[in-house]
This record gives sequence, C-alpha cells and structure tokens, in this order.
Amino acid sequence: MILIIDNNAANLLLYRYLLKVVKKESLKLVCFESPLDALEWCFENEPDLVLLDYAMSSMNGLEFIEKFKSIFTSNTIPFVMVTAEGDVKDKALELGAFDFLNKPVNKSELILRVRNLLDLHESQKAIANRAEWLAMEVKKATEEIKEREKEMIIRLSKAAEHRDPETGYHLVRMANYSRLIARELGLSETEQNLILESAPMHDIGKVATPDAILLKAGKLISEEFTVMKDHAQKGYDILSGSNSLLISTAATMALTHHEKFDGSGYPNGLKGEEIPLCGRIIAVGDVFDALTSCRPYKKAWTVEEAANFLKENSGSHFDPRCVQALLRAWGDVLDIYTRYKDNF
Ligand SMILES: [Fe+2]
Ligand SMILES: [Fe+2]
Repeated sequence: MILIIDNNAANLLLYRYLLKVVKKESLKLVCFESPLDALEWCFENEPDLVLLDYAMSSMNGLEFIEKFKSIFTSNTIPFVMVTAEGDVKDKALELGAFDFLNKPVNKSELILRVRNLLDLHESQKAIANRAEWLAMEVKKATEEIKEREKEMIIRLSKAAEHRDPETGYHLVRMANYSRLIARELGLSETEQNLILESAPMHDIGKVATPDAILLKAGKLISEEFTVMKDHAQKGYDILSGSNSLLISTAATMALTHHEKFDGSGYPNGLKGEEIPLCGRIIAVGDVFDALTSCRPYKKAWTVEEAANFLKENSGSHFDPRCVQALLRAWGDVLDIYTRYKDNF
C-alpha cells in the first residue's frame, strides 16, 4: 500500500492518477487529506511507502514522520516528501525521509522515485523475513538436538537398567528428588532441569560391572566391593569429553555420586565443596530413594526412617545443605514417592 497525504484534494487526485502506472499487482493507494487521520490509519495498517506533502495544516510533513516513527520503530518504510522549501531537506533526511520531489511535481520523476523505493523496500522486507526465517530454523535445529540428547540419555540409562537390579522407577524418583533439592538450594529453572535430565545416568558405569557382582543377592565381600566401586570411574569414562552440557554434567555426577562430605567416599575421597554440587545433590536423592525402595537384600524403609538416616549422616556422608533442602520440600518428596511407586 502507498499512503498519500496532502491537504489539497486536487493534488491527491493527481497523485492517484499518476501513480496508476506504478501500481503493482494488489498494491493499493490510500489517500488522506488530514495527517491526523493518516496516523490513525497507521495504527491498524502498515504502508509500503509514504508520499506526503511538507506544508500541511495541523501537522507538517516532518512532524508527521516523527510521529510515524514512534509507531513503526524498527521499520524501513520509505518516505517521499514533496516540498518547495530546500531547508527542510536536511531535517527530513535526519528523520529518515528517503527522497524529495519539488513542487510542481514532475510526472516521470514521481513515478521513477516511487517505483525505485518500492523495490528497495520490498527487498529489505525479503532480507528481514529471510533473517527471521533463519533464526527460527536455528532455534528449531537447536531444540531438535537437545531433544535427541535427552532421548539418547534415556535410552542409555535404559540399557544400563537392564543389567542393574535398581530397576522400576528408581531413576525417575531419584532424578526428581534431586531436582527438588536443586530448587530448594535456589538454583535456576535451567539448572534444575539439567540436574533432572542428567541424574538418570549416574550408574551408567555399571554396564562394565561383572554380573556375578552386580546381581549378587548377598552382601559383597571386600574384593567384590572394590570392583563394584569402579562403576563411578567407568561411568565418567563413558560420558566425559562431551561438548554437551547435559552429558558432561552426567559425567561429573557419575564420577562423584559416591563421594562423601567428610572425604570418606569414593573414588577420589573428595571432601566438602571439593565435591561438585551436582554430585552432592544426587548423593542425597539417590540414597534417599535406595533406602525407601526394596532391594534383593533389604526391605524398603519408610520415608521417615530414610529421612532420619539423612539427618544422622548429614555432614558426614551428605552435604547438610542438600539434606535440609530435601527435608524442606517434604510435601513434594511424598508426592514423588507415591506418584512413582514401584508395583513389586
Ligand atoms: Fe552408583
Ligand atoms: Fe542409583
């Protein structure tokens, strides 16, 4: 649409007549005698070009451009100003007027300038649309990659689960408990989700643990326990070196989820805050769920018994802040406990 503004109705008729030649398909001419009416129209419509007179009553051409720019702040809509006054041109250029026509308007000059500016605006719009399209495509592709990462993690965790007696909803529950702890510690939503999504891989290293040890119903003897402990380092070896934040966080969790706050854990005997926060968080989520689940060698503890265990071992096995965080979210803990109950 070409928006034409001129106080003089005869001029509008003339422009209408002259611009019939440049009328591209579906390009309309919208004419206003009053700049105020034209502005009102602009609140609902976006023209492709504005042809306006400088000397108008109620608002001159420059004032109109100023007001127009406050409606279409980031737009490149071209203006052609018709003026007999040379000294307004500088100010008009500053405001973004693209071209001028002297009065009386020369027919071929008007047609040429309007045609060129329309073409320019069209290509600018096409570039902007293309940039927008590209940004959307990049966003879509990034989301797809993230989804695939998550899928890979779920599938990898499922593979490990087939060899691990810790089946059922253990991974879902421990990941959700861990997210609660992260939330209570004041971590951002993104960090909470990172914990939730990477926690299920904490025991992936068990794929390398021999069946005789992994599936043993009784208590492990000392040498067997030493082999079992390798799953932390093995998990790290499987997951480390990735550019993905999700997988590298999972690698850190795999390595550090058996470290203890007082330094008596494994594999590296890290102490206190030497243990990465994600490792301290899932240590609480993982043990709380292991205690409240039944295993071949033990009955399930009640949630109260498990909470007492966490409290008793707060500061020795567990980071006290993480224990407190889980206890603070007790209502949500019970919700996860009942929602993902195993049926065996
Ligand atoms: Fe483990
Ligand atoms: Fe676990």
